[in-house]
Amino acid sequence: MGQIIQMFSHPVITLDDYPDSHALADRFYDQAMGLMQEFPDAGLISDAWHSGRRAQSQEDISRHGFTSFHSVNLAKRDDFDFINKAALAVFAQYLRVVGKAGTGMTLDSAWSSVYGRGHYVPQHTHPLSHLSLVYYASASEGTGQLVFENPARAHFQHFYPPEISWMPYRYTVQPKKGLFVVFPSYLVHNTEPHDSDELRVIYSANLQLAFNRQTDADKAR
Ligand SMILES: [Fe+2]
Repeated sequence: MGQIIQMFSHPVITLDDYPDSHALADRFYDQAMGLMQEFPDAGLISDAWHSGRRAQSQEDISRHGFTSFHSVNLAKRDDFDFINKAALAVFAQYLRVVGKAGTGMTLDSAWSSVYGRGHYVPQHTHPLSHLSLVYYASASEGTGQLVFENPARAHFQHFYPPEISWMPYRYTVQPKKGLFVVFPSYLVHNTEPHDSDELRVIYSANLQLAFNRQTDADKAR
């Protein structure tokens, strides 16, 4: 009997049954609205994202969308403890799934993004993090997908054009309220434009894993 070997995977997990996830979503939604009031000079997304432009007016936020990324680290805020703890529990679940349960971890940074109609985030990675997470506090039906690029895309596309390729160039996840997605931070990803008048509200977080390789001399101390 033969077998197909799925070699060298880049595991992403989604989780939609976190306890009381909708209550968590509603609480985060309300607090994200508070962040928008608190930081009128917040970062912008969509076509203003790559340049790191900041809002100079409420109109800028309405036109491009909001991110608290440059303004505040929610991982250090007590009033966001409820969602940071949930994120750590979901990261721990990822580590169990990939066989690295119990690895030391630190929530390095966390932020909120709020999309209005047409807003999106261009392709990026989360540099110098090990794992990243996104949680949808609000994502109405038809909101833009989260798109991951295959890290080997340059090779696949160069040698196997779409007509003869059986290897996917990208993988998409459809966001919905209460959904967590955990992924290796090096994966290039983007979000497609949000096609709804209801706001799309997101919590994102970056995780560092503890790593300490001891030499024989270290162990002898
Ligand atoms: Fe991202």
